[in-house]
Amino acid sequence: MTTILTYGTFDLFHIGHVRLLSRLAELGDRLIVGVSTDEFNAAKGKRSFIPYEHRAEIVASMRSVDRVIPETSWEQKRADIILHGVDIFAIGSDWKGKFDTLSDLCEVRYLERTDGISSTELKAQLAAPEPQEIERLGHALDILQQVVDNYRGLP
Ligand code: CTP
Repeated sequence: MTTILTYGTFDLFHIGHVRLLSRLAELGDRLIVGVSTDEFNAAKGKRSFIPYEHRAEIVASMRSVDRVIPETSWEQKRADIILHGVDIFAIGSDWKGKFDTLSDLCEVRYLERTDGISSTELKAQLAAPEPQEIERLGHALDILQQVVDNYRGLP
């Protein structure tokens, strides 16, 4: 029985998350996912849009995932590896080299990320105005400019 452990926030759950989790599951028999709590994200200076309970439920509903545990600190990894009898710690390549110190306890692997998608990018895209909105704002600015020009033209 090969047990794999990973951690992540999994906010605005997207295709990069799905693919990473299924590739992780293929590494062995049992995949455990540590989902970052809202408090831990806040301590990291991140704000997750979807609350922890929902993110944990979404991740737990994946066929590839056997168990979800809360990630509440950077330091818990060593204890989790021992507690759950983990054989492979694996995570996306954005963390390459960052967890090599765990290799005295288990195998450490970094998997390629899916290109072109991240929760941060999705948030930026959702926050950006629609093209029609930008058009409307430009039009409103033109009208305001005309009003200002008219006033400037007054004696
Ligand atoms: N991941 C991935 N491919 C992506 C995005 C994420 O393989 N396109 C992986 C990460 O490398 C990590 C896991 O999914 O192992 C959870 O990552 P998370 O940080 O929650 O997702 P991101 O989309 O990277 O979120 P953020 O932009 O907030 O960092």
